[in-house]
Amino acid sequence: MLGLKLPTDPRWVNIVEKNIEDILTDHAFCEQKAASTAISLIVSFPEYTELVQEMTALVKEEISHFKMVHDKIIDRGWTLGRDRKDEYVIQLVNFFPKGGSRTTQLVHRLLYAALIEARSCERFRLLSEALEDQELAAFYKNLMVSEANHYTMFLGFARKYGERKEVDKKWHDLLDYEAKIMADLGKSQTIHG
Ligand SMILES: [Fe+2]
Ligand SMILES: [Fe+2]
Repeated sequence: MLGLKLPTDPRWVNIVEKNIEDILTDHAFCEQKAASTAISLIVSFPEYTELVQEMTALVKEEISHFKMVHDKIIDRGWTLGRDRKDEYVIQLVNFFPKGGSRTTQLVHRLLYAALIEARSCERFRLLSEALEDQELAAFYKNLMVSEANHYTMFLGFARKYGERKEVDKKWHDLLDYEAKIMADLGKSQTIHG
């Protein structure tokens, strides 16, 4: 349903389970970055009215996810750690050549966002199905549904603002590239690692 070409190695959950504090800190910053991305799209593409409306709603939703994760960290007696580089995202956003028309740049950013939502959703599903901690498993099941909706929204906007055939080709090429990145990941206690 998400179009991903390479599923995450299920053993990734076992790695995560050994360090819940780290995964929660990494996850909190994923939500913060999702909110920041939505703000950045508003700043860069203010003339796309429908996008601005949806991104305004998304900022609120993603920052509320941040708070939900932060609350979990506090509940467990921990303090939010420092953000770390997300190697997955750093590699992913190198795929499309820089430059091009504004519409092209917008489409590329929307496709990156769609894919990050799709992979996050897949990782949340794994956590919801395999974590022994039932409270956290239920928490991730809830979030999984939100991220699936975001994936659909971003891909829908890319198809709306770009030329459909061209966008679909780019999306499939990006999925192939992402599968190659993912082949080396699934080994660390981060949401995308
Ligand atoms: Fe989120
Ligand atoms: Fe999201």
